[in-house]
Amino acid sequence: MAQMLKIDDIAVSYGNIEALHGISMEVEAGGIVSLIGANGAGKSTLLKAIVGQVPLTRGSITFEGSPICVPRHSKKEGGKALPTHDIAKLGIALVPEGRHVFADMTVEENLDMGAFLVKDPAVIERKKEEMYDFFPILGARRKQKTRSLSGGEQQMMAIARALMSSPKLLLLDEPGLGLAPLIVQDIFHKIRLINEEDGVTVFLVEQNARMALRNSTVGYVMETGNIVLSDASEALLVNERVKKAYLGE
Ligand SMILES: Nc1ncnc2c1ncn2[C@@H]1O[C@H](COP(=O)(O)OP(=O)(O)O)[C@@H](O)[C@H]1O
Ligand SMILES: [Mg+2]
Repeated sequence: MAQMLKIDDIAVSYGNIEALHGISMEVEAGGIVSLIGANGAGKSTLLKAIVGQVPLTRGSITFEGSPICVPRHSKKEGGKALPTHDIAKLGIALVPEGRHVFADMTVEENLDMGAFLVKDPAVIERKKEEMYDFFPILGARRKQKTRSLSGGEQQMMAIARALMSSPKLLLLDEPGLGLAPLIVQDIFHKIRLINEEDGVTVFLVEQNARMALRNSTVGYVMETGNIVLSDASEALLVNERVKKAYLGE
């Protein structure tokens, strides 16, 4: 499989405090890659770096062979840090932690917001109908204000909104956070379908290590801003260190 995203020795700081200390990762086209780690490890910071929401102080991120993020003053050949909007245009969509839905807008209006890169109104309508087929609960509630939806429904809407731009790479920041186990299962099932049936490459970040590893091909483990382990997800599920620290076994 071809490499889609390459993260090469990146560092990110908030003020004087370095949050990522030299992270390297690869995401192959067509797979589901998971990143697990405790609260505060730096998972969200990594996703923000990929979409250009936080600047790198070192390293580079390459998407489909072209650099998308490099440090601001980098003189690297061909290197250019793209603004978030241009990264989205290349086909990367982020479902942020906590979903960030527009609570006073209807489901339909939220999906329209997700289509900001799509110019053709007929395509927008068709994408919305696809989303209502895929998430029937959203179809039933399309005219309702988002704040009236349950947490699980809001998460599904946030995913549908990200899919409106037909991304090649979908980044998911803790899709199961704060949801009941059965709802989390439902959401992971949908994530697999998005990957298997629509061919969208998925990179998901989770504190729920078991769900993440069971639903991915390759896994990475992050601890305080460093990648400390990476392997096939099924190998990580039986790794003694992972079992002890993340699976409560
Ligand atoms: N906007 C911010 N300003 C300052 N520090 C931050 C900010 N966002 C995150 N951090 C710090 O960076 C570290 C990594 O945070 P984060 O990426 O949110 O971790 P995770 O998503 O794994 O819980 C934490 O120590 C956190 O306190
Ligand atoms: Mg986070």
